Amino acid sequence: MVKATAISLASQTFAENPYMFYEQLRSTHPVTWNNTFRYPGWYVTGYEEAKIILKDARFKNRIPLPQSSKKYERLKNVQNDMMLFQNNMNHQRLRGIVSKVFTPKAAASCRPLIQETAADLLNQVKQQKHMDIISDFAFPLPSLVIANILGVPTEDRSLFKEWTKPLIESIDFTRSKNVLTNGNETTKHVLDYFQDMIQHRKRRPKDDLISMLINEEQDGEKLTDNELLATCILLMAAGHETTVNLISNTILCFLQHPFQRTKLMENPALLETAVEESLRLESPTQMIARVASEDIEISGSHIQSGEHVYILLGAVNRDPRVFENPDAFDITRHPNPHLAFGYGSHFCLGAPLARLEAQIAVKSLLATFPDLRLETENVRWRKLAGFRSLQDLPVIWNKIENHTARKQ
Ligand code: HEM
Repeated sequence: MVKATAISLASQTFAENPYMFYEQLRSTHPVTWNNTFRYPGWYVTGYEEAKIILKDARFKNRIPLPQSSKKYERLKNVQNDMMLFQNNMNHQRLRGIVSKVFTPKAAASCRPLIQETAADLLNQVKQQKHMDIISDFAFPLPSLVIANILGVPTEDRSLFKEWTKPLIESIDFTRSKNVLTNGNETTKHVLDYFQDMIQHRKRRPKDDLISMLINEEQDGEKLTDNELLATCILLMAAGHETTVNLISNTILCFLQHPFQRTKLMENPALLETAVEESLRLESPTQMIARVASEDIEISGSHIQSGEHVYILLGAVNRDPRVFENPDAFDITRHPNPHLAFGYGSHFCLGAPLARLEAQIAVKSLLATFPDLRLETENVRWRKLAGFRSLQDLPVIWNKIENHTARKQ
């Protein structure tokens, strides 16, 4: 048996199956200290413990780079202005303004756009007999949608794709100096791009999120230019990376569990609980971090001020004390109080949009290709510790449908 402490979080072994490692950590304690990893700290695998920590304002969010870092200054400054890494009043102010315009109602109004985009993408590959779910469908769908919401020209989408990868990798545990240098360099291009876009929208507002963010205020205060830039970049990156993973992980779950797929086909009303189950079982965000601002005891573990706490969402969502048969994919699971979108004051602002995109994507894909199957059983995961992300997902099908994919 491989010892949990012997596994590197940046290894392919971990990327293939982080769950065995989580289990071993949990068997030590649901909040356990580990200083053999590259990032020493408290690793949280317990569900209740995770909720307590995420609700406790004494555990602070912080940027993953040292404040003193001069080498990656651009990247650091942008991260510093993102609500994701803010606390208390500043976080409330930023989140308050953004959530006035990026609302669940606004997400729901994207339904026709998502349906049309999904149908278009499927029509483009229908005459073939295979595709890569990631590059042909799961990536372009959320990226076209967020580009549309933000008001970014669709033809610039390939730039977004190029930019998101280094930005996401530079907040992951596996980040190397090269990744950070790349992230810092990429930040320059993204900043130039959005600076330009914001100037245009200030002169000529349009009916898009960037224009709304420019004008929105709370208690007479607007977002500063730097906050505006950081928010656009955060939404772009968040809108790209995690939803791609949710869509592709859900498809993979169905392809690996044909009985659950039949169940969904027989009872389409299970679509919502199916996506929730995929969020739980293969959580797109696997890890979030906090720093203790004072000495705090959690379930007998004595966390000291300044120590890092890593909440392993992928482990928490399989805590057997909360989820019966936690490693099973059961699309009828109810209730399913997973923490895939986080918990507490930083709960994901994009959750309604991500859920809707995944539901429409899965429904459209399975309806268009009823005999869809994996091209190979060898599924390849990206070497990331904070995200559950497939490298690719090649699939095949037999029938060539004559009719075009309809909006689902
Ligand atoms: C399956 C898709 C998604 C997952 C699993 C996910 C997950 C998360 C998680 C776990 C957090 C909390 C981080 C923390 O507490 O440290 C978060 C925050 C956030 N997410 Fe998402 N996210 C997804 C999609 C999106 C989308 C589509 C958007 C927007 C376009 C978005 C925007 C945000 C923002 C702005 C925050 C920061 C909230 C705050 O700090 O108050 N997310 N997300």
